[in-house]
Amino acid sequence: MDDDLPAGRPADTATARTDPLTTAAAAATATTTATATATATATATATATATAAPALLPAEIIRRKRDGQALDDGQIQAFVDGLVAAPGTAGHWGDAQVGALAMATVLRGMAPAETVALTRAMTRSGRVLDWSDAALARAVGDRGPVLDKHSTGGIGDKVSLVLAPLVAACGGCVPMISGRGLGHTGGTLDKLEALPGYAVDAAPARWQAALREAGCAIIGAGADLAPADRRLYAIRDVTATVESLPLITASILSKKLAAGLQGLVMDVKTGNGAFMARAEDARALARTLVQVAAGAGLRCEARVSDMSQPLGWTAGNALEVAECLDLLCGRAAEPRLRALTLALSARLLCIGGLAADEADAQARLARALDSGAAAERFARMVRSLGGPADVLRDPQLAAAPVVRDVPAPHDGVLAAIDTRAVGLVVVALGGGRARAGQAIDGRVGLSAWRPLGAGLARGEPLCRVHAADAAAAQAAVAALQAACTLAPVGTPVVLPPDGDWVNA
Ligand code: URA
Repeated sequence: MDDDLPAGRPADTATARTDPLTTAAAAATATTTATATATATATATATATATAAPALLPAEIIRRKRDGQALDDGQIQAFVDGLVAAPGTAGHWGDAQVGALAMATVLRGMAPAETVALTRAMTRSGRVLDWSDAALARAVGDRGPVLDKHSTGGIGDKVSLVLAPLVAACGGCVPMISGRGLGHTGGTLDKLEALPGYAVDAAPARWQAALREAGCAIIGAGADLAPADRRLYAIRDVTATVESLPLITASILSKKLAAGLQGLVMDVKTGNGAFMARAEDARALARTLVQVAAGAGLRCEARVSDMSQPLGWTAGNALEVAECLDLLCGRAAEPRLRALTLALSARLLCIGGLAADEADAQARLARALDSGAAAERFARMVRSLGGPADVLRDPQLAAAPVVRDVPAPHDGVLAAIDTRAVGLVVVALGGGRARAGQAIDGRVGLSAWRPLGAGLARGEPLCRVHAADAAAAQAAVAALQAACTLAPVGTPVVLPPDGDWVNA
């Protein structure tokens, strides 16, 4: 059942849709998650029935969640309305109130029906694209199925930058609504902003022109798509409130549902660099995402991928873009990064009906990479969105002034990495944010990262630090040495499982 539209909401194609999440509540209710939130959720559901509906005052809503009670649809809608209401207007929630509810949610969890209600309210906080709308289809040149991929966040996770043009080169239309770095993880928009002039906040006419030109456009949600998530995401980033199954689910799916996708692959990270460090929590998140998406009519499959080491050779914005250019142009490819990108892309081609099966998809993807077609799509997208005119040959990426190797303190085999600590090193170098809205330094980060299981002689580099000054480089070297465990030579290193798929 559709709720009334909030005042001021664009009366566009969104209004014509039946609420896609109505059935998702039923689907999601069937899922019992094995996460740390399960106990709190059960308490919340049980207590909710015993309490009369309270007022919609922010403090009352926060108190309910703090005390482990479930929020009803009206209370969740009041919270989401409060995220988008202008400061000083009725119903606006201040940053402290938003942070408090986010923290209460991290600690108390949400029942499946609350997660669905939150996803629905956040999706409808702005415009919802409808690709059956003739004007929109014409604006992007009547391209193929509307597909996308999203990751729950990691260190060195640059898959989106390769996957979007690759899938576009195979016939997909990829309006990829991406995010900024969150906590210790990097963000696709921050990476793209390392390209001078690239407009991550392009207005609709501009990103639609990029889609027409390139078949893909990686952009921010902008002011009109899921604006509630934009604000909540920024506050969660700096209030230690990222790690929450309902908040992550609503954040991701609100953007994806607002983009009106026809197919989605989710890359749910697990391991010590992920928000869901425990494999069972990551699988629970994957199941919830797939079920809530399916309930909304969005075909989605989720892969649980290992993040117990950085992905690829680099972490840090400009360095990651350079690594992607190497992959797209066939110059060099770190094997795990290439394999994950191809696995996610292949599944997306199958979901979108662009390949008959996995083998067919892999053959198409290999052709698009080897022929340079995917690189050409990336170049067109960057040019259309204001970045360098010839990004493949002259990406104009700024370099950090100080570069230092991180020497292995003794001989050994790289047996464990504190991947979260590695992400925090990139943040400390200036490559991520400690405060909402903080400017970041696109030049800094890490390169030449060695994988788990690598054998190193004393003094051989674990990786290389790129820093703004010598003091920052020195602090990073020490922190990275502390983050890496070198076991005696010959110690077998068992890599965690990587690549389970969860289907609807
Ligand atoms: N990615 C998102 O878009 N939102 C989250 O909450 C986490 C990862």
